[in-house]
Amino acid sequence: MKNKAILEVCNSSKSFGGVIANHNISLTVPEGEIVGLIGPNGSGKTTLFNTIVGTHPLDNGEVYFEGQEISSLRVPEIARLGMLRTFQQTRIYGGMTGVQNMRISSPLIHDSNFSTMFSGLPPEVDERSDELLEFVGLYEKRNLMSGDLSFGQQKLLEFAMALMNEPKLLLLDEPTAGINPTLINGLIDRLKLANEKFGITLFVIEHNMRVVMNLADSIYCLAHGEMLAHGLPDEIQNDQKVIDAYLGAS
Ligand SMILES: Nc1ncnc2c1ncn2[C@@H]1O[C@H](COP(=O)(O)OP(=O)(O)O)[C@@H](O)[C@H]1O
Ligand SMILES: [Mg+2]
Repeated sequence: MKNKAILEVCNSSKSFGGVIANHNISLTVPEGEIVGLIGPNGSGKTTLFNTIVGTHPLDNGEVYFEGQEISSLRVPEIARLGMLRTFQQTRIYGGMTGVQNMRISSPLIHDSNFSTMFSGLPPEVDERSDELLEFVGLYEKRNLMSGDLSFGQQKLLEFAMALMNEPKLLLLDEPTAGINPTLINGLIDRLKLANEKFGITLFVIEHNMRVVMNLADSIYCLAHGEMLAHGLPDEIQNDQKVIDAYLGAS
């Protein structure tokens, strides 16, 4: 039996001036699964994420999170419901340590008034932070300035920061981009573990075909702002429309 949808996008469209970045996009992310999103550069993947999480409003269409229509909500409200995203370019504070970045990612800080900031955070926050830094393999480096970490390590830190919020659904924008190939397998394993162990549903934009084939339960493919194909990894890999879109783009 198919899992129920945690996220549904219905006929979503978004233009920037004359550029149609997304046109009538519909998709479903089933609860508990890992869904991939592929497509050539400029095909509208990041725009789709931005509209889903409320970074910018969509022109037409609806977005449902756990059955609730959320397209008029903005990022903080959507984050509180349990949907978060990471960025193609990481957004960590380079002048803060890993531990400090983890602390400011705690939902207790987001929701805080100044009294929580100054009275200190409950010990559970640091315990959870330590566990997650261990989980992504950064525990030994937790007191280094985050700006001194390698780009791959910064992406792992950003992933751990997102996990601090215990999201139900995490959208990852090209998590392996710019990461040393030898570290990619470790990252894939951790994404799979976060899905299996913490029960987090993942929706992942991924440029690397090998990675997405290995990671995703099902895959959507965008081209020129339109949904080109949806299927199991094997089906997508052998879909002539998908192959042509990638060849046409190179
Ligand atoms: N904020 C923006 N302002 C203007 N154009 C944008 C903006 N964001 C994206 N676009 C345009 O929308 C199209 C899709 O971009 P994007 O969603 O970033 O694609 P992808 O993530 O698949 O590479 C591109 O033509 C891009 O230039
Ligand atoms: Mg992008």
